[in-house]
Amino acid sequence: MHQLQLSTSTGTTEIVVGELLSSRLQQLELEPILLIDENVLVQHHDLFEPFRTVIIPSGESHKTLQTVEALYRELVTLEADRSTLMVGVGGGLATDIAGFVASTFLRGTPFGFISTTLLGQVDASIGGKNGVNLEGYKNMLGTIRQPSFVWCDLSLLSTLDKREYVSGIAEVIKYGFIRDFSFMEYLEEHMDQLLKQNLGVLEHVVSTSATIKADVVQQDEKEADLRKMLNFGHTIGHAIERHKAILHGEAVGMGMLLAARLSHLQGLLSAPEVDRVEQMLLSAGLPAQMKLDPEEIYQNLRKDKKKRGEDVHFVLLKGLGNTSIRPFPLTELKSMIHDLC
Ligand code: GLY
Repeated sequence: MHQLQLSTSTGTTEIVVGELLSSRLQQLELEPILLIDENVLVQHHDLFEPFRTVIIPSGESHKTLQTVEALYRELVTLEADRSTLMVGVGGGLATDIAGFVASTFLRGTPFGFISTTLLGQVDASIGGKNGVNLEGYKNMLGTIRQPSFVWCDLSLLSTLDKREYVSGIAEVIKYGFIRDFSFMEYLEEHMDQLLKQNLGVLEHVVSTSATIKADVVQQDEKEADLRKMLNFGHTIGHAIERHKAILHGEAVGMGMLLAARLSHLQGLLSAPEVDRVEQMLLSAGLPAQMKLDPEEIYQNLRKDKKKRGEDVHFVLLKGLGNTSIRPFPLTELKSMIHDLC
């Protein structure tokens, strides 16, 4: 079992990786309400059945203010008050919605997460940013507030759909590329075991990823500077995700490869290093080729919420294990996207 702490101005999170949930659930003190993904409740009914639950519908199309409002109404019916502990249970979608609801209902109640997907355990449940989409644009509305705990029970991952599990690996390898060369090498050597969910490898991978994310967030919770590196692969990735019916990690993987190619064009990454990025994606079973419509990507990037004035900021790799952020004016962006695609 691994335990770590993330402390910022908006709270302290205890992150636990590897421990079986059943013993932890018994320790919940304040009588909690679980805000739980509908599929997770069906799959793990026995575990969560003793608690009061409010159901979060599955699927990105439900990550909206309408869903949030429906949840508020159910909480009123359950007579939740300012001291009620809200526990978000599920993948990134459920914890994002639950964290937003808990941060705004009665101007904020205590909350924590039980993260049930790889993507959630290594990324989405950690960092305090929680919110919903608006008109299909991701995470346009949200709050920053740290949950008091994030529990990552690795045994829950065994029931995940294989494609969803692999999608989570995209965020794992991102940490190697942006911040930790030796972790990247570890992943190159252990990808087979990671795909087979070898427990020792999985525990190392989830706890290292969580540690890297927590370290970055702790230094820059409000994304003034350092935290921007976590967006590696996401700027183009979100634009791809918006017009292709693929999973988040698949889009981010492709976004990382295009960002690596852009890094090469900018003289920051060698051709063999770009190959290494591509090989890593392929070894994980993530797509490294896609038919993309450059015009659609350009239009989506224009509206990306990270656009500052007329520039779009890209996180590039400056060698493997390091990043550099470069602004690109919209006027340059169009031809650049065409070149990359
Ligand atoms: N909730 C994800 C993050 O804060 O990055």
